[in-house]
Formats: sequence, C-alpha cells, structure tokens
Amino acid sequence: MQPDISVKHLNKVYGGGFQALKDVNLEIYPGEIFALLGPNGAGKTTLISIICGIVNKTDGEIRAAGHNIVTDYRSAREAIGLVPQELHTDAFERVWDAVSFSRGLFGKPPKPSHIEKVLKDLSLWDKRNNRIMSLSGGMKRRVMIAKALSHEPRILFLDEPTAGVDVELRRDMWEMVRKLRENGTTIILTTHYIEEAEEMADRIGVIREGEIILVEEKNQLMSKLGKKELRLQLQNPLDKVPGELTLEPVELSEDGYELIYTFDAQEQQAGVARLLRTLGELDIEYRDLQTRESSLEEIFVGLVHE
Ligand SMILES: Nc1ncnc2c1ncn2[C@@H]1O[C@H](COP(=O)(O)OP(=O)(O)O)[C@@H](O)[C@H]1O
Ligand SMILES: [Mg+2]
Repeated sequence: MQPDISVKHLNKVYGGGFQALKDVNLEIYPGEIFALLGPNGAGKTTLISIICGIVNKTDGEIRAAGHNIVTDYRSAREAIGLVPQELHTDAFERVWDAVSFSRGLFGKPPKPSHIEKVLKDLSLWDKRNNRIMSLSGGMKRRVMIAKALSHEPRILFLDEPTAGVDVELRRDMWEMVRKLRENGTTIILTTHYIEEAEEMADRIGVIREGEIILVEEKNQLMSKLGKKELRLQLQNPLDKVPGELTLEPVELSEDGYELIYTFDAQEQQAGVARLLRTLGELDIEYRDLQTRESSLEEIFVGLVHE
C-alpha cells in the first residue's frame, strides 16, 4: 500500500542554528490514526508544519498522497487538512460562511452537500448561522476542524487537539476523531498526553529532542515493552523472600504480606506456574492474587528515561 505520508531523512535547522528535527523517517498509511507523542519542545509542530508546507525543511524528501510537497505543492497541500495548535478564527463570521470560505481557498467549487455533512458530523449543524464568537471553546475547535475538512482532504492533521481542554471535551473530541476515521480519513495527531495516544492511536511514534525514537503499533508496543505483575496476598507474613523463590524476580512488600512478581508481558507464563508450584511446596498459603499490565504511561516513562 502506498503511504499517505512519507518522510525521508528530514532535517530542520531553524534560522538561529537550532536543529529541531534530526533525520526523521516516517510513513503513515491510509485510514490509520497515528499519534505523534512527545514532550513540549520535541519538534511535533515543526514536523507537521513542514509536511503542510508552512515551514521550510532544511533537507529531506516528503510526499503527501504521493505528491512531493515542494515540486508538487498544490496537489500535496490539497490532500491535507490542518488544524493548527494555535486557534485563530474570524470571530464575526458565521459558521457556515467560514467553512465554505475555507473550501474556496483551495480553489474548489462550492459543494453545499459536503459542508452540510461536515457540519453534521461535527455536531455543528444547529450552529451553522451563529457567529463564531458566540460559540464555546469546544465548539470553536470544531469549527477549526470543519474548516480543515472543507476541501475534502484525505489526510487530517490535528496539532494538540485537546491541549488545555477539559476532560469531558477531550472525550468528545476523541469520539469525533473516531467518527472521522470511519469516513476513511487518515488522521495524524500530536499530543503530549500519553492517555490520548493510548486511547486513540493505531500506531504511535515517540519523538524526543527532534528524533523519532520509536514507531510501533500501539498493541504491539504495549505487549512488547509492557510488564505484567502478579501480586499474591499471603495468609501469613514472611520476613524475607524464601531462597527457593529467587529464580524469579520476586519482591516482598514491607509488611511481609504481599509477594510481587514482575515479568515481561510477551513472556510465557512458565514463571507464574513455577512460582505457584514452589509456593505450594513451601506450604506458603495465599488468600488472593491479582495480575495487572503496565499502562502506556509506564512504558513511555521507561522509554524516555533510557
Ligand atoms: N521559529 C523558530 N525558530 C527557532 N526555534 C524554533 C522555532 N519554532 C520552534 N523552535 C524550537 O524548536 C523546538 C521544537 O518546537 P516545536 O516543534 O514547537 O515542538 P512541540 O510542538 O513538540 O512542542 C523547540 O525547542 C522550539 O523552541
Ligand atoms: Mg507543538
């Protein structure tokens, strides 16, 4: 399958000499939700801005929907809708007019049926005659998305779509993004909220100090780098981990009532069976046991520390 976005050996050095992106390579495929996850200042907005033709690259080759973003700028840009990090809308305009106007900027003929669909998809239909300044923050953000979708792009970039948005609106936004994907739109979002990447993405790219340090399917990332933990609540406390159990990395809680065994999520369960068998042989009884998997947050923190 041809990627919707292809980035090869991209470098960006800003005017002052600061290198914001270092040999970035990335491919994003039709219909996926890709989350670019990284702390503030990592280079997320720079990367998106270069792909969308707002910031010039220093070197590298970029294609959007198969079009070179420099030599075939118009076709490349037409395939892309961008919702920038900083929201700026014309406060006095009405929703319908603002969205229709955006379409016109791409030289596309009017298509009221499309504008109607976009406004309905984003639950803005009832507000179509309202002035933008009369809308809530969440609704303004939706108008920005509607504008970005007005010219029927196949690729949508959302730069920090929920930064500074309260939890409820964030859930709304996630719901909306999923709906857009159902229409076949390829979605690339940047975020510094791990929870957002975990909730939304099919694939996750982690960027740190201008370098993509990892790109992985979310589920694989979770099972590959994740840990599982088995906790056993003991009937009687122990004062130390019995020597027979040291084959497995087992820890004892401070009060001696809990044994904690941590293992790689992808590993076979042989260790667990062996541990339980040994406990039986030692006549160590337990009242209860639980297992849990590490969250993306724990994986991410582990990665950035490495
Ligand atoms: N116009 C600019 N000139 C010089 N440095 C910049 C400019 N824009 C961004 N930077 C720097 O590039 C780095 C990456 O910024 P940015 O892409 O906005 O990161 P992010 O979106 O991940 O928070 C930051 O250190 C930032 O200060
Ligand atoms: Mg940014």
